[in-house]
Amino acid sequence: MESETSSPEETEALAGRLAATLRAGDVVTVSGELGSGKTTFVRGACRALGVSGAVTSPTYTIGHRYHGDGVDVAHLDLYRFQGVSAAEWGDLEPYFDETIAFVEWPEAGEGVLPAPRAVVRLRHADEGRRLISIHGADTRL
Ligand SMILES: Nc1ncnc2c1ncn2[C@@H]1O[C@H](COP(=O)(O)OP(=O)(O)OP(=O)(O)O)[C@@H](O)[C@H]1O
Ligand SMILES: [Mg+2]
Repeated sequence: MESETSSPEETEALAGRLAATLRAGDVVTVSGELGSGKTTFVRGACRALGVSGAVTSPTYTIGHRYHGDGVDVAHLDLYRFQGVSAAEWGDLEPYFDETIAFVEWPEAGEGVLPAPRAVVRLRHADEGRRLISIHGADTRL
């Protein structure tokens, strides 16, 4: 399924509809070029799952783990990774334990991360617009 959004708010709302279909143990990869809206998407999903604090890019840490409404939500960013070693996986694994986990720049974790429940890809369209494809989830989002 591919959608076009015209604002960050619309991207957050789309992510919220995806989030409503997820449960603990699900992994969502969120790919797309710099500034395409990956963190905005994850923020919308976090809000829909009941996370109330700031949701910011974990670029300078491996990840964040938030308490949502009855479920924990993890937000990882593998931008600085080139592959994931066994030792690094040891640091990452707890983020996937009993969470709904969103992973920005997941390419480095291919073959190491748990299989995703949904695959999200964002692209720039015109200014302020983004094309967002979501595969693997409910197609009626
Ligand atoms: N339709 C849209 N959807 C999402 N973001 C949008 C949209 N239109 C404009 N923006 C803006 O684009 C920027 C997206 O930034 P964001 O941090 O979410 O991107 P990112 O893909 O996570 O970047 P990075 O690769 O640096 O992690 C924000 O400033 C946001 O306001
Ligand atoms: Mg980001």
